[in-house]
Amino acid sequence: MPTVNIMEVGHVVVPQPKDLVVRLSALDAPWVANPLIQRVLLFVHDAGGQQHPPFESLVGSLRASLVATLARLPPLAGRVVFLPSTGDAAIDCSGPEGGGGVRFVIAESDDTDVRRLAGDADHDVDAFEALVPELKVEALPAEVLAVQVTRLKGGVAVGVALHHAVVDGRSVWMFLQAWAAACRGDDDAAVATMTFDRAVVAIPGGEELARSTLRKYAPNLPLAANMFPSAPIKLPRRTFTITTKHIQHLKQCMSGQTTSGKPATAPMPSSFVAIAALAWVSFVRSKHPTAIATRHNVYLFFFIDCRGRPGIDPPVSENYFGTCITGCLVKAMARDLLAVDGVAVAMEVIQREVQRTAEDPLGLWDWMDIVSWVPLDRLVGINGSTRFKAYEVTDFGWGAPSRTEVVTMSDGRVVLVAAKNGGVQASVCMHPDHARSFNSHFLDSLG
Ligand SMILES: *[C@@H]1O[C@H](CO)[C@@H](O)[C@H](O)[C@H]1NC(C)=O
Repeated sequence: MPTVNIMEVGHVVVPQPKDLVVRLSALDAPWVANPLIQRVLLFVHDAGGQQHPPFESLVGSLRASLVATLARLPPLAGRVVFLPSTGDAAIDCSGPEGGGGVRFVIAESDDTDVRRLAGDADHDVDAFEALVPELKVEALPAEVLAVQVTRLKGGVAVGVALHHAVVDGRSVWMFLQAWAAACRGDDDAAVATMTFDRAVVAIPGGEELARSTLRKYAPNLPLAANMFPSAPIKLPRRTFTITTKHIQHLKQCMSGQTTSGKPATAPMPSSFVAIAALAWVSFVRSKHPTAIATRHNVYLFFFIDCRGRPGIDPPVSENYFGTCITGCLVKAMARDLLAVDGVAVAMEVIQREVQRTAEDPLGLWDWMDIVSWVPLDRLVGINGSTRFKAYEVTDFGWGAPSRTEVVTMSDGRVVLVAAKNGGVQASVCMHPDHARSFNSHFLDSLG
């Protein structure tokens, strides 16, 4: 097995506005008990004719541009802290606890071939895990961001770990876009307009709701136990690239095949709905009949971005940097998804639930509560979005990454981003008992 050697562990410290303490909103609070996002970006030397600068100078540019970016986004350089006097949690961007800076790790591995890591559909999970930093989050004060840059055989990996109470997926990409632009020497106009004041998330219940949510999911603060224990075995993961043509084909399923009396005026499903439907049906088929019976209820869960939506008044700005997502849970009978027109049926029920949630986004703001009653082995969870321009926005000055993946994944999970040349990248984590069957259902239905 390839070895990754840590060469240096430093801290990027940024002078921050004094006494800037941002109290978490009720939408941030549940994530204190489920904090970790780890993502790796793999850059292959000479991909598309782009040469990498020497490793030292590449690291230097990454570090300098990170400093500039953190100055614009102070919460990333802070700590998530507990305020025992009020029972709140907050992001302390300054002061003795907040001023620790961002851990910046430099590593190298001569025997990890970046072309293989970037090229294989099946993830080398051990290698990916070695290329992202850990984040100290088990107790508050918790770290918000750590970075690891690793020199590999034939290229470089940039790994990040972020605290989910400070960023949602959208904010992760806002940050990476701003950092990459700064590293290229470009001005990212968007970063100047980002806001991170939690007060703009004006949801009924306000501060008291944030506090009670915190007590519900993290009753032992400053200890923040993890709500989702990790699996006893390492689960395999595979990446599918779904072309625009595949997506068109899937969408046509819905207009062509469904038998349940859909009105002819139903809008075309989005790419998200089409891919979610395919993943859900493939999951149910791969577990039937061993783990899912026809009479079982099966579930699909994903998040909806609340920025700009009704329900929060005034609406949260598109430039809000924080966690601003609520849940959307879809239920169906396994029998209906196992039918010949299962994908079309799935698209219909998902579409209906997406529309309902768009009208009432706060309906399932307390999404974490479903963990207490939904059978998790009959649930597919989707993270990410077909709109995250993962490859387009992450050119740090030596070309776009050849591959980027989320490293924190669990059983039955699908992570979406926009693919490199159009289409969508779907990374799927499945228990080995069902992975092979899932993969063949998924690929067959792409036609
Ligand atoms: C993905 O969503 C699940 C809930 O379905 C959540 O527990 C997990 O933290 C999310 N992962 C990332 C990387 O955001």
